[in-house]
Amino acid sequence: MALVTSFPVVRSAPIPVAGRVGNFSYAIRNIVAEAQRVEAAGTRVRYLNVGNPPPFGFQPPGHMIDAVVRAMRDGENGYGPSPGIPAAREAVAAEYTRRGWSVTADRVLVTAGTSEGIDLALSALADIEGEVLVPLPTYPLYTAVLAKLGARARFYRTDPQRGWEPDLEHLETVVTPATRALVVIDPNNPTGASYSIAARRALIAFAERHGLVILADEVYGDLGYDGPVAPLGSLEPEAPVLSFSSLSKGYVAPGWRTGWIAVGQSPRLDDLLSALKKLADGRLCSTMPMQHAIAAALNGDRAHQAAFRAALKSRAEVTVAMLRAIPGITCSEPAAAFYVMPKVALPPGRTDEDYVLGLLKATGVLCVYGAGFGMAASDGYLRIVFLAPPEELREIYQLMGDFTADYLARS
Ligand SMILES: Cc1ncc(COP(=O)(O)O)c(C=O)c1O
Repeated sequence: MALVTSFPVVRSAPIPVAGRVGNFSYAIRNIVAEAQRVEAAGTRVRYLNVGNPPPFGFQPPGHMIDAVVRAMRDGENGYGPSPGIPAAREAVAAEYTRRGWSVTADRVLVTAGTSEGIDLALSALADIEGEVLVPLPTYPLYTAVLAKLGARARFYRTDPQRGWEPDLEHLETVVTPATRALVVIDPNNPTGASYSIAARRALIAFAERHGLVILADEVYGDLGYDGPVAPLGSLEPEAPVLSFSSLSKGYVAPGWRTGWIAVGQSPRLDDLLSALKKLADGRLCSTMPMQHAIAAALNGDRAHQAAFRAALKSRAEVTVAMLRAIPGITCSEPAAAFYVMPKVALPPGRTDEDYVLGLLKATGVLCVYGAGFGMAASDGYLRIVFLAPPEELREIYQLMGDFTADYLARS
């Protein structure tokens, strides 16, 4: 018998998508579509929008690659335990413990990068309409995931006049009874800041006063120009801290999508740890062969990190010197990682996006506008990723200088 349906068949209507997608925004990649149009029209695009070291010649050390290849050849291609393989969890715990924050392997989860760790932690913490304190400017994944969850980001300012340190007075004004967590990104993307010990202690004290868990994004912890930055938890081992990191930045393997969450020893975190493990069960496990690189990375030779830090420091120096020489641009000095967030003194009525798109179309230089990190569009901030070689950076800043002079004169 033929199946009869009373529903009209509408073949032309688009399949509707969920409303939450409208609130999910990740400017770092959204802007690429515009760059591709510029490229198609014949202009060479300089991609200064993504913090992705390998295309600029920074590659993971051989012993990490060997560990992954060996794992694949040894048949480690099946699913594994959802919190991660014991060797990786132990290596992560030992690494934090060596750096002054005592963590045990049973409180480590291996994740698909810091990104999955952030998603798992926010999912475990924030109910619909729950609030999470996020630095301004922020790495946009926090606001995107909170939007997806139906929860709210409440921004606390960081201060460009003081090297982008957190504004502790402002922080006190944004906490409410609905607040569930404090996000601390240190060293910071998008500003390149590395916080003072006093600021770090004050953030811990604030979280303790308000009974909040700290989500410490420490993915750039190995990339302080003066050497690795101690984990936040090392300042106060009993504080309720989760640390997130990965092989993406300090070990230059972002495409491997391999990272971890370390959960502090405080028993106050036990329920959260169980919730994270429960959520992690649902995605079975993170990439198995790459997990074998974690112990190789953390227990192996780190000579590449010293070289990487030195390369970043010299790029930061070129960047700051040349940007500061452009009339209309101010810029604070980064202390870690490969980002800087200069400010253009925009004429009234102009936005950061207008400047960035104008720069892209005129010169092929692609940065991300500050509004993509939560800043007011009229403030004129943009983020630059300075991984390109210093000679190329010089050319790029020359192009920016010429464009900016013209842009400000025209407006
Ligand atoms: C502050 C911050 N957190 C998290 C991530 C995501 O890193 P991963 O590759 O470990 O997912 C990035 C990537 O740029 C970042 O800058």
